[in-house]
Amino acid sequence: MARVRRRVARMAAWSVAGLLTVAGVAAATALGVPSAPPALHPIPRIVGGADAPSGAFPFMAALQQWEGNGYLTICGGTLIAPDEVLTAAHCVDQWAVGQQTAGGQPRDRVVVGRTLLSASDGAVRLPEAIRVDPTWDSATEADDAAVLRLDAPIGDVAAPTLPVSGNRGYEQPGVAAVTVGWGSTQPQGPTDVGGGVYPDELRQVSLPLVGDSPCQSVFDGRRNPALYPGVMLCAGGDGHHDACTGDSGGPLLTPLAGGGWELIGITSWGNGCAVPGTPGVFTRLSAPEIHDFVAGAGTGVAFGP
Ligand code: ARG
Repeated sequence: MARVRRRVARMAAWSVAGLLTVAGVAAATALGVPSAPPALHPIPRIVGGADAPSGAFPFMAALQQWEGNGYLTICGGTLIAPDEVLTAAHCVDQWAVGQQTAGGQPRDRVVVGRTLLSASDGAVRLPEAIRVDPTWDSATEADDAAVLRLDAPIGDVAAPTLPVSGNRGYEQPGVAAVTVGWGSTQPQGPTDVGGGVYPDELRQVSLPLVGDSPCQSVFDGRRNPALYPGVMLCAGGDGHHDACTGDSGGPLLTPLAGGGWELIGITSWGNGCAVPGTPGVFTRLSAPEIHDFVAGAGTGVAFGP
C-alpha cells in the first residue's frame, strides 16, 4: 500500500520531465529527426553513488508531503540561510503555506540535518513563505528555482556559499561536482514513469561538469528548445552516475579549497537517468537572473568567495 502511494507520488514528481520527454520526442518527429529510443535498464543498480556519511551534508533538506500514513520525501533542498531552503520550482509549485490534512497533519514540511529518513534526528520545519521564481517555465524548466522561508531558523549549520552573480569560475568543464539526494537509485528510461527504487539513506555521487555546447548538442532534437545554457548547467553522462527522480531540488556542489562547498546548481531535470551520453541538468546559480531571485529571498544568504 505504502509502495503504491509512493509510486503515485513519484509519478507526480516525474511528470514534468515525462511531459518534456514526450514533447521533445514529438518535436523531433515533426522535424524528421529520429528520436532516441527510451533507454531502459532492467537491472537495478545504484545510479553510481554511495551512502553519504552522517553529517557530511548538514545543510541538506528533505522536502516531504503527508501521504496518509507517513511523510514521503518528494524532493531535496539546501539550507542557504538559517531560515531559507533553496529548491526547484517544480518541487513546490503545488505547495502552500499552512496546508493541513484532514487529520490535522501539516501537509508540507522540511527536514534538515537527517541522513536516514526513517530516523527522527534533525530539525523539522514548516514553510512560512514560498517563493517560486516568477520566470520559471514549467514547459522548458528554465529558472527552476524556489526558496522556502522556514517557520523557525535552524542554527549552527555551515551552509554552502553561492556564486556571485555571473561568476562561472566554479563551473569549469571536467571539474568533479557532487550531488546528493534520496532520489531513485535505479536508472529509469524516459518512459519508465513511476518506477524507481528509493533509499532510506542519503546518497552522494560525483559528476564531472559538462560544457554548454556539448550538452546542448545532446539535447538537440530531443527537446525543443534543447537547453537554455544561460540558466542551466549540465553534469555527468557516463551512463553510470546521475541524479534521478526524487533528487530534484537538491544541491550540485563543488568543494572549496579552504573547506566547505560552493553551491553551483539545483537538480532540475534529465532525460531518463544514467542514460549513456545524457548528462543531468541543474539550475545554474551563477546566472544573474537566478542569483537575483535567490538574493531577493532575504538577507542571510552568503555569496562568494
Ligand atoms: N525532475 C526530477 C525530479 O523531480 C529530477 C531529475 C534529475 N534527473 C537526472 N537524470 N539527472 O526529481
